[in-house]
Amino acid sequence: MIELNPHYAELKDSYLFRRIAAKTEAYCAAHPGTRLLRMGIGDVSLPLAPAVIRSLHEAVDDQAQIATFHGYLPECGAPFFRRAVADHYRGRGIALSDDEVFVSSGASDELGDILDLFSPSSAALIMEPAYPAYVDASVIAGRRIVRLPSGEESGFLPSPSDSIDADLVYLCSPNNPTGAVFSRDLLQKWVDWANRRGAIILFDAAYEVFIEDHELPRSIFEIDGARTSAIEICSLSKTAGFTGTRLGYTVIPLELERGGQRLHAMWTRNRTTKTNGVSYILQKGGAAVFTEEGQRQIRENIAVYKQNAKTLMKALDRVGVWYTGGKNAPYLWMKCPDGMNSWDFFDRLLHEIQVVGTPGEGFGQCGEGYFRFSTFGSPEDTEEAARRLVKLLGEG
Ligand code: MLT
Repeated sequence: MIELNPHYAELKDSYLFRRIAAKTEAYCAAHPGTRLLRMGIGDVSLPLAPAVIRSLHEAVDDQAQIATFHGYLPECGAPFFRRAVADHYRGRGIALSDDEVFVSSGASDELGDILDLFSPSSAALIMEPAYPAYVDASVIAGRRIVRLPSGEESGFLPSPSDSIDADLVYLCSPNNPTGAVFSRDLLQKWVDWANRRGAIILFDAAYEVFIEDHELPRSIFEIDGARTSAIEICSLSKTAGFTGTRLGYTVIPLELERGGQRLHAMWTRNRTTKTNGVSYILQKGGAAVFTEEGQRQIRENIAVYKQNAKTLMKALDRVGVWYTGGKNAPYLWMKCPDGMNSWDFFDRLLHEIQVVGTPGEGFGQCGEGYFRFSTFGSPEDTEEAARRLVKLLGEG
C-alpha cells in the first residue's frame, strides 16, 4: 500500500485561522443576527485601488481580441510585471535586475513552496511568536524545527547567536503577530550570522508598506551582505488589498548560491516545472500597483488601516493594558488582562462583546498570555470594537 506523508500526523489538528473561524461560526449559529466585529485574521476590508481595477478590466478586454490575446506567459513572471516590481525597488535605492523578481500567487503559498529548494535534513529556525504557516509548512516538509522564543524584554526581536543550530531562518518584519520591526543593526546581525554559517534567510516582507519610520529597513536587500544570504517574499495582499485576488513576488539574487548551486537557477527550474505562472490579467492588475497613481491610491487605503490602529491603541491606552505594534504594522499585540490565557480571553471577547481577535498561543507557546488585533477591518467596526473593549475592561 502507498505510504502517505507521515508528517501530517505531527500537525496540530487544525490551522489557527480555521479554528477561529469554527468557533466564530458556532457562536453565530447559536446567536443568529449577531453583529460580530472581526479583527482576527488579517483580511483587508477595502476594495482594490481604481488604477488596479481599470488595469484588470483592460486586461480582460485584451483577452477578447486576437491582436492582444495572451496564452501562456513566462512561468517566472511576465516581463512587464517583473520590471514594475524591480523598478519599484530601484526607486527605493535597492539595485535589482528584473529577472531577480519571480511572480507568485501570494506570500503564504510561496513560503511553503520555497522549501523545495532545501534538503529535508536542513533545520528551520522559527522565531516565536510566529505566523503559524512557517511551522506547519516546515512540519509537512518533514523538516527539523528550531524554535527561538522571544518576549517583551527584547521587544519580540531576538538576536542571532553562534549556538543556534539551523540552516534556514524565517524573519518577518514588520512582524506578524507582534508588529515589531527589525532595526537595521539587528537585521545586519542576522545577515552576518547567515553568511557566516552558510544559512539562508527567508525574509517575509508582506507588511513592509506599513513601516512609517524612515530609518527602519523595509527590505532585507537594504542590508549589506543580504544578496548572498537572503530571499525576500512579498505579497500584494496587505499592500494593495489582494487577499482575495492573489498575487505576490519573490526576490532571489543571482549571486545567492550554496555548495556551487545558484538558488535563482534552482527556483527557475522549479517554477518552470511546477507552475505555469500567474494569469496575464492578474499580473496586469498587479503592475498597476507600482504606477504613481497606484501607489497614491494604495497609500490612501493604508492610511485608513493606520487610523484603525490609532483607534485601537487609544482604547488600549485607556484600559491600561500593555501592548506593542500598531505604529509600523497592521497588528496590535496586547497582554491579556488579569493574567488570562489567550483562548479564554478570545472566548470572553466573543461571548461578551462579540469581538473576534486572535489568541497569542496560536503563534507559539511564548505567545500564550497575549492577544492580537488586526487593523484591517472597517473604521466603523474598529471604532465600535474599541468602545466595547473599553466598556468591558474598564478605564485603567
Ligand atoms: C494573518 O491574519 O495572520 C494573516 O492574514 C494570514 C495570512 O496572511 O494568511
